[in-house]
Amino acid sequence: MIIANWKANGDIKSNKAWCNQLIVRMSNRGLKSIGIAPSFIHFNQIKNAFINNDIKVGFQDIDIDGGARTGSISPSMAVDSDCSFCLIGHSERREIFNEDNNIISKKYKMLVKSHIKPVLCIGESFEEFKAGKTEQKLQTQIQECIQGNISSENLTIAYEPIWAIGSGNTPKPKDVNTIHEFIKDVVQSASENNLRPQVLYGGSVNKSNAADFFVEKNIDGALIGGASLDADIFSDIIEIYSRHKEK
Ligand code: 13P
Repeated sequence: MIIANWKANGDIKSNKAWCNQLIVRMSNRGLKSIGIAPSFIHFNQIKNAFINNDIKVGFQDIDIDGGARTGSISPSMAVDSDCSFCLIGHSERREIFNEDNNIISKKYKMLVKSHIKPVLCIGESFEEFKAGKTEQKLQTQIQECIQGNISSENLTIAYEPIWAIGSGNTPKPKDVNTIHEFIKDVVQSASENNLRPQVLYGGSVNKSNAADFFVEKNIDGALIGGASLDADIFSDIIEIYSRHKEK
């Protein structure tokens, strides 16, 4: 799957042009295996733009409950909006909004309960990467966020090294492949039903490096920030994904 994470970008006019362009570019392939996570305010616009297509539209985040929580979007609102998937644990949420594994585990549980596919984001800092602590960090994040509670067939993990996000720097695709295999093993051994999750890579994916990632066996797709804001570039990346993963 290829997911566009628009973060706090987009406006009604440019979103409309983006959706129209994607539909034109994907007219032969169709919109399967594509997800978009726009801002909450644009969710319905994007959902309606793709009403006749099988594109998945999701949230970038969710709160753990509803009611007296000013400024929040609750899990039941996500269900009501027909949200297909929801990112949780993005490093920007962890860093800017002080979210820790404990709060992310509550979000994870609420999504499973609400039958919304969680896309759990994990990743190490540059210091941890340099110190060879990547796997240790990822294992802790997975175990603390899902807490052995793998009842969802639909769990997807997004591996996003913090130092690769928006920086133009990426780890070597072969190393990412090894890390993804490790992530699948960790989830599988914690899973009641032997689940091996889809693992997406995120962090400075663009149309020049996408093929190098998608050629790797354990890289099941990508979570794309900056390069997803341009419908043509995003379409180019989807075409590269199709060539490597949908043969
Ligand atoms: P960039 O693709 O801009 O590096 O962002 C990655 C990301 O954070 C997706 O969630």
